Amino acid sequence: MTRLRLTDFRNYAFLDLRVDPRPVCLVGPNGAGKTNLVEAVSFLGPGRGLRAAGADAVRRKTDEGPAPLWAVHAEAETREGPVTLATGADPAEPARRRTRLEGAAATQTELARILPLLWLTPREDRLWAGARADRMRFFDRLVLAGDPAHAQTAIRYDKALRERQRLLDRMEDGQRPDPAWLDALEREIAASGVAMAAARLDALVRLQAEIDDRPETAFPKADLALEGLVEADLADGLPALEAEDRFLSALESARRRDAAAGRALTGPHRTELTARHRGKDQPASDCSTGEQKALVLGLALAQGAALAKVKGSAPVLIFDEACAHLDAARREGLADAILAMGAQAWLTGVESALFSAFGARAQTVAVENGTARLES
Ligand SMILES: Nc1ncnc2c1ncn2[C@@H]1O[C@H](COP(=O)(O)OP(=O)(O)O)[C@@H](O)[C@H]1O
Ligand SMILES: [Mg+2]
Repeated sequence: MTRLRLTDFRNYAFLDLRVDPRPVCLVGPNGAGKTNLVEAVSFLGPGRGLRAAGADAVRRKTDEGPAPLWAVHAEAETREGPVTLATGADPAEPARRRTRLEGAAATQTELARILPLLWLTPREDRLWAGARADRMRFFDRLVLAGDPAHAQTAIRYDKALRERQRLLDRMEDGQRPDPAWLDALEREIAASGVAMAAARLDALVRLQAEIDDRPETAFPKADLALEGLVEADLADGLPALEAEDRFLSALESARRRDAAAGRALTGPHRTELTARHRGKDQPASDCSTGEQKALVLGLALAQGAALAKVKGSAPVLIFDEACAHLDAARREGLADAILAMGAQAWLTGVESALFSAFGARAQTVAVENGTARLES
């Protein structure tokens, strides 16, 4: 990106920040607005940004009340030339977010295609020992950075799954749902579920190949696996249409069980991502906090490098507070990996010494009290 403009976003009344293609190190005290600034960048991609916040939560709030609208504008240099991207509250319906490309309405998927993003926040420090759903959300973002359609597939899947459950709940209440509608929903779940699982497997294979190919760095290598019914079928070489049929009959025969459970108990929404620390030959969840964090960083860096190879340019990387608990060797390793893939990473930290490994190969932005100024 070359320019970022914020209007009434979190603690920024207005910001106009011009940067060059080098990584951007945001330095400032706690509460200055560093995470807010990278959150604004993350809103240029699909979804709810790196804090999983609603469009309404991010508008600036003051003692006089909340601002009516908010906006994020960016200018970026892509392989196809310069582009402008924007997102913000829809004036017609301010609680909704709209996205624009070159000033015209565009989908979030189109933005993701133009400007792939990847982010890591302190939330991911607990990824391996935490909840399955958070782990999958993290992995789905890695998938999405290489395959923007993945977000739409997941939305279609979730929507059909929720609608099916509504019908099954009615069945539990003794009503008879429309069988044709239930069939149609299950076909949609099977089709989008298999597409979702296939995209994940594809990403996993590429990512693992990149990890295997990489020289040893400051970040440990992981051996990854996806554990799920549909993923297992596809990994066994079952053609997608057959995997779809098998998933469809699993759904049909699980209607009573899912009705009683109040949720669907099989399908790619239940898939688990596991990782082993290769050097220690240990599950990631058994590793120390520091090792777990290094594994996650290693994955993000490997995915960034893999995408840089296939797409010809690296995604924009966001590393919020990533350096805070890294020793000097790992901070150097992080800088080396970012520079090697040629990514414009946006990093945050409370002091510039955290980024000294970049030297003049990054720029520093001083963040204070809702303002940000390029220093060097
Ligand atoms: N919607 C909002 N409107 C105004 N200020 C906000 C809003 N949301 C968060 N803030 C303020 O932003 C500040 C935190 O910014 P943050 O980017 O998290 O800081 P840090 O630099 O530590 O990462 C807090 O003071 C918080 O009150
Ligand atoms: Mg922060």
